[in-house]
Order: sequence, then C-alpha cells, then structure tokens
Amino acid sequence: MAVNLQVALGRLRLPNPVMVAAGTFGYGVEYRDLVDLTRLGAIVTKSLTLAPRMGNPPPRVAETPAGMLNTIGLQNDGVDAFLLETLPRLREYGVPIIVSVAGETLEEYVQVAAKVSRAEGVAALELNLSCPNQARGGMEFGVSAELTAQVVAAVRRAADLPLIAKLTPNLGDLTPVAQAAVDAGADALSLINTLLGVAVDAQTRRFRLSSKVGGLSGPAVKPIAQYHFWRVRQALPNTPLIGVGGISTPDDALEYILLGAHAVQIGTANYVQPTTALEILDGIHNYLQQHGFESLDALRGLVG
Ligand SMILES: Cc1cc2nc3c(=O)[nH]c(=O)nc-3n(C[C@H](O)[C@H](O)[C@H](O)COP(=O)(O)O)c2cc1C
Repeated sequence: MAVNLQVALGRLRLPNPVMVAAGTFGYGVEYRDLVDLTRLGAIVTKSLTLAPRMGNPPPRVAETPAGMLNTIGLQNDGVDAFLLETLPRLREYGVPIIVSVAGETLEEYVQVAAKVSRAEGVAALELNLSCPNQARGGMEFGVSAELTAQVVAAVRRAADLPLIAKLTPNLGDLTPVAQAAVDAGADALSLINTLLGVAVDAQTRRFRLSSKVGGLSGPAVKPIAQYHFWRVRQALPNTPLIGVGGISTPDDALEYILLGAHAVQIGTANYVQPTTALEILDGIHNYLQQHGFESLDALRGLVG
C-alpha cells in the first residue's frame, strides 16, 4: 500500500512530518556526511540573532537522568553570515529550511526576520520565544501572552513567510500564550522548548552549568511536553501544531501525531545518534503501512 507522508501546516508544505529541532543540528550542513539531508521533512536552523554571539562560557551542558541541561546562550554566527555563507550551501540539498529567529528585544526579532524574509529559499520562520527579554530583566518573552502577541504581530508585518511560534513550557498554562500567538498571526505553533532546571555537583560543591540555570530536554521531558501539547490541542483544534520534546523513537513521534500533531521535531536525540530523524521517518512509514493508514490525516488526533 502506498503511503502519503506529506503534510501541510497552513501555507507551509513539507514532504514529511519529521524535522530536526532548532539548536540541535547546527545549521544542517555540518551533518551532510552523516545524514541524507534531502530526506528530512525540514531543517530548523539554530536560532539566529542580529549580531554573532559567542554564547555562554563552559560548562554549557550537563547530563541528567534521561535528559540533559544546556546553557548554550544562543551561540550563532549572526543572521548576515548565515544568509551570505551558510544558506546558499544548505539550499543545494533542496530540503525545506525553517530559520529560527531569536532576539533580546522586539526590534531584534523584527530585524532578523525581515532580513531572512528577503533571502531566497527559506520555507518558514520559527520564532524562538524562549529568549531573555532585555527590557524585563531577562524574563522569557514567551511567558507573557501580551509580549508574545507583540513579537508575533511585529514579525508578521515585517516578513511574508509562514510563521511558526515556538512556545516555552516555563509557565503553568500555555493556552493563553498559544491563543495570543495565533491571534497575532502565527500560522502554526511548535511546543515545547526546554524546561528551566539546575544541577548541582556534590563532589565539587558547585553548579554543573556556568550560568547555574539551564534548559532541560530529552526523554525526561516527554510527558510534560505531551501534557502541554494535549492542552493546547484542545484549546486550538484548528491550528497546526508541531510536537517537540523527548522524541527518540518512532513511537514517541507517533504519540504526538495521535495527540493531534501535524509534524514533530527531534532535538536531544540527534546528539545520541544523528540519523535518529530518518529512523523515525522510516518507522512512521512502516507503522502506517502495517496498520493500513494511507496518510497521516487518518491517524492524527485519534487520541484526544
Ligand atoms: C543543546 C541544545 C540547544 C538548543 N538550542 C535551541 C535554539 O537555539 N533555539 C530553540 O528554539 N530551541 C533550542 N533548543 C530546544 C530544542 O529545539 C527543543 O525544543 C528541546 O530540546 C526539546 O526537544 P528534545 O527533548 O527533543 O531535545 C536547544 C536544545 C538543546 C538540547
């Protein structure tokens, strides 16, 4: 039986639902010798800021039970270098490119997004709303529905590309923020970004990360991510959602699709095995075939 894996998230059309998540796969080109990039549903780039950033000092990662904490600090080449040097190389693979946009001010988000939207060959923008807001003492933009709406609306006006808002889980109820993002013009939502956490080393009697606080990801976060996903799905039944958090097997990805995901993103699992996204893609394909589903539409949202 032929299986159709194509998905449409509003205006954004993807050949299949399996993407690599922002910040966990570089800009994509780094992996060209290890992974057949042409088969990915999309590559989400690491988040780009206006100027290049060195990120935080080491140690920047710490392993935790079934997960990891990171404090990379938005290290990146800056949007101009990406557009000039990296994007032309990445375009050669023909894989949909989703550029993750970051900022410490509303103006920075807008300027980065406007520059990217003038470039050729970008399929969509993903707004990283977990960035620290300079004007509010480093609070994440995405914990406030009002700030989220402001960022999404301003980027919407500045850039004519499909727009994905990526939500932070670091608040009790994500649904008001999700609603605000959609009302302000987001075509789709991805959720979740990392959860705030700390880790202490009893032997050195220090925090394990230079910045003390980091973001938790990996299998440990999956039930939390799926909880938020399920709640947002209920609140916004007509908005395309992308499930992110703790996916490392085909079943993990299928769970999100059953909960109503149009697509999924693979993050921390790329560090364990860079080909994970393709193995998950093959696993989804086999599952559909074995269980007699012709497309993802038939499977999506069966658990609600
Ligand atoms: C080392 C590392 C760097 C990350 N960098 C970014 C980033 O630049 N922008 C972003 O939106 N998310 C970033 N994330 C979050 C992931 O894209 C993803 O939302 C999160 O890790 C949960 O998925 P996972 O459990 O599959 O890793 C990063 C995660 C990790 C582990």
